[in-house]
Amino acid sequence: MSTLQAIQHVPLFDKCRGFTAAREAQAAGLYPYFTPITEAEDTVVTIHGKTKVMMGSNNYLGLTHHPKVLEAAQAALRKYGSGCTGSRFLNGTLDLHEQLEARLAEFVHKEACLVFSTGYQANLGLVSGLMGRNEVVYLDKLDHASIVDGASMSKAQVVRFNHGDLAGLERKLRDEGRPQGAMVIVDGVFSMEGDIADLPHLVPLAKKHGAALAVDDAHSIGVLGPTGAGTAEHFGLTDEVDLIVGTFSKSLASIGGFVAGAEYVIHFLKHHARPLIFTAALPASNTAGVLAALDILQSEPERRAALWENTRRLASGLKSLGFDIGPSETPIVPVLIGPLDKTLVVWRKLFDAGVFTNPVVPPAVPPSQCRLRASVMATHTAEQVDFALDAFAGIARAVGVL
Ligand SMILES: Cc1ncc(COP(=O)(O)O)c(C=O)c1O
Repeated sequence: MSTLQAIQHVPLFDKCRGFTAAREAQAAGLYPYFTPITEAEDTVVTIHGKTKVMMGSNNYLGLTHHPKVLEAAQAALRKYGSGCTGSRFLNGTLDLHEQLEARLAEFVHKEACLVFSTGYQANLGLVSGLMGRNEVVYLDKLDHASIVDGASMSKAQVVRFNHGDLAGLERKLRDEGRPQGAMVIVDGVFSMEGDIADLPHLVPLAKKHGAALAVDDAHSIGVLGPTGAGTAEHFGLTDEVDLIVGTFSKSLASIGGFVAGAEYVIHFLKHHARPLIFTAALPASNTAGVLAALDILQSEPERRAALWENTRRLASGLKSLGFDIGPSETPIVPVLIGPLDKTLVVWRKLFDAGVFTNPVVPPAVPPSQCRLRASVMATHTAEQVDFALDAFAGIARAVGVL
């Protein structure tokens, strides 16, 4: 410790010095986070000078390198500059944001839409902006962290129900009596399990209890529904879901997010969502890139077909190898391994074999249910999916998972 540090001992930072778990994993070569990618070419990335098949992105339609997306982003960069340098509320709204809002509202069949700078902020803004004192927000226990954080930020009462337990939700809705206002919010596709929210039962339940229903379609836009418009469209319930949240960081190949719903609700959020008002607007290059990605999403349904073909190939391949992929029914395919140490060893062996996956460990999941989260893209070739399956097969046997 240097003299300066000794003099300036700050008790608050003792816990930081005492935090050694990540350093121990780094020393053991079993640290999977913050790995710098030095080159990315669609389904293949370069890390530490070696190529890996990317089986851990959310780039479902493979649009991050599409020439039209890149051209649109470059043209907007030249026309509008590199940043908005201010909030949507003040100097940061561009005509491009309004064009995108109109396009997205039409796409998800809602009256209006509001674009945020990230998907995280879209959920944060929706829940904290809409839900007030004496109101109740109901969350599935596996809802994304941005929904949970939005709920904590709001003044509303927060009630959580077990994942997918609609009988439990109904009991809680009944117990609360008739609050001033209530909203049930769920992920359309759950990001760690890959299962789809049971909207056919949630819709009547929310209606019966006078609650609004919001669906976070981060992993469903471009993936579910005949036109890729998400979970509500998948179930033919577009008009029955009150609010749809989406992100641009997955199928739409950029960053940013949106909330869509009735015009008067969106108007209210525009004036009450602090994560919209007190942060800088989405840069023009990203906004134009999303508009171009949306064009491709809508005009090339064959991409969605290829995504599902790859999903079936990976999921059925893993199942026939004997892996437990839980309730997954989408391009998110979690591979249950079990304890943390074994999961990190399998992750590292796959990585060394040239396959990039994401380990999911506590607190995101219980200690005995660690998993590798794999996901496919429309642009993976069958050979790339088979390459990953071969790596899973060899490695799982080696560490005794099978
Ligand atoms: C279900 C869900 N909602 C919201 C988000 C936040 O989106 P973004 O990363 O685009 O901010 C994510 C991102 O991982 C997500 O999985």
